[in-house]
Amino acid sequence: MITPTLISLPKIVDPRGNLSFFEHPNQLPFEIARTYWIYDVPGGEIRGSHAFREQQEFIVALSGSFDVVLNDGVNEKRFSLNRSYNGLFIPKMYWRRLENFSTNSLALIVSDKTYDENDYIRGFEEFKSLKNG
Ligand code: TYD
Repeated sequence: MITPTLISLPKIVDPRGNLSFFEHPNQLPFEIARTYWIYDVPGGEIRGSHAFREQQEFIVALSGSFDVVLNDGVNEKRFSLNRSYNGLFIPKMYWRRLENFSTNSLALIVSDKTYDENDYIRGFEEFKSLKNG
């Protein structure tokens, strides 16, 4: 998978409460090496203005809502995540930022790599020149 993709996750509807999940390789196109989450985001804050050289990610709004804005070096696309049974796959080398967090929103992020600061591209101009050659 080389383009950002919204993936519908299974939803096991139950009067006791619903259940959703993802697993590799059925819903998730990579094996998970790391899980982190973003929470308690003050109104108006933006997280994650950067790209990754190699890392792939999958993001789920477990609670509340937020937008993931992806830039491929030329075009920008906004994905609004507001259901816990949808996930957004982000390939490597997409500039991404998370914004418009609702109160009490919870962003779950799984990655195919452990944390490595050297994998970050933190300058947008550097990202564009690496991406566009
Ligand atoms: P960063 O990825 O820059 O946050 P943002 O979502 O705003 O882009 O990470 C913020 C800080 O947290 C940074 O100092 C590195 C640290 N961090 C880890 O130690 N491990 C992790 O898995 C992540 C995602 C961040």
